[in-house]
Amino acid sequence: MGDVVSGTEANGVPFAVRRLSPHIGGEVIGLDLSRELAPEVVAAVRLAWLQHQVLLFRDQTLTDDDQVRFARMFGEPVGSRSMKQANPNVMLISNVRENGQLIGVLPDGELQFHADSIYLEKPLMGAILYAVELPSTGGNTKFSSTYAAYDALSRDEKRRLSGLTALNAFDYETQVRTGRFDPSKGPHYKHPVVRTHPETGRKGIFVNRLMSQHIVGLPAKESDAILARLWDLCECPEFTYEHVWRVGDVVLWDNRCTQHARTDFPASERRLLRRVGIEGDKPY
Ligand SMILES: [Fe+2]
Repeated sequence: MGDVVSGTEANGVPFAVRRLSPHIGGEVIGLDLSRELAPEVVAAVRLAWLQHQVLLFRDQTLTDDDQVRFARMFGEPVGSRSMKQANPNVMLISNVRENGQLIGVLPDGELQFHADSIYLEKPLMGAILYAVELPSTGGNTKFSSTYAAYDALSRDEKRRLSGLTALNAFDYETQVRTGRFDPSKGPHYKHPVVRTHPETGRKGIFVNRLMSQHIVGLPAKESDAILARLWDLCECPEFTYEHVWRVGDVVLWDNRCTQHARTDFPASERRLLRRVGIEGDKPY
């Protein structure tokens, strides 16, 4: 890794991109996201985002408003489903408690692979996480390329998946699949098992271990076998980039062609990340 793959000041783009893993992730070097970016720079960042699926910007200092403004360069900002923040477009992901009350959501421990809000009709297009406080170890975020996972399927498997849909659900309490969740009791939505990215035209697997319940219309055994195969592919280390956070990191991911998961971390240590979502459209 480490090779600069695109963009230098010499060709008119005021940043460079360093590849983070073979299939996913690029570090953008040379941009200060607290400043207004020129339209041609925004366009270049968007191109890099579509190419690398996940972009990392180190050593940033962002207010809530800065982060929302950055999100607006990609689409309509979306905040939290449950928290009342001063800025409604901001969601805190944190285990920090004030007066015994959690200040954020998804507080503790491991979080299995998922794409955000795929239990809704219009899952997020993407999201931006900004690291404010971190534990001394763990709490890493793994990002997986669902393009790479799809491309690894055999031709017969791709044919078998064509036209299939899956029910996706989430009960907001579950961070690790328990098998006990009743999908009729929480938000749920059926989406294609393979989705086509509306901007790149590439196909990616659109089921995940945390939220996808079953493939519609198939016997349970067959559905389970297909889902297990797809989850394993999506979680294959070869197709993932594991991000070890530093305070000041900003990570922008494309929720249409990636999944992410969190590794465990000490419950006794504080962790606080600020998320701004970007509104998406209906997958096809
Ligand atoms: Fe997430």
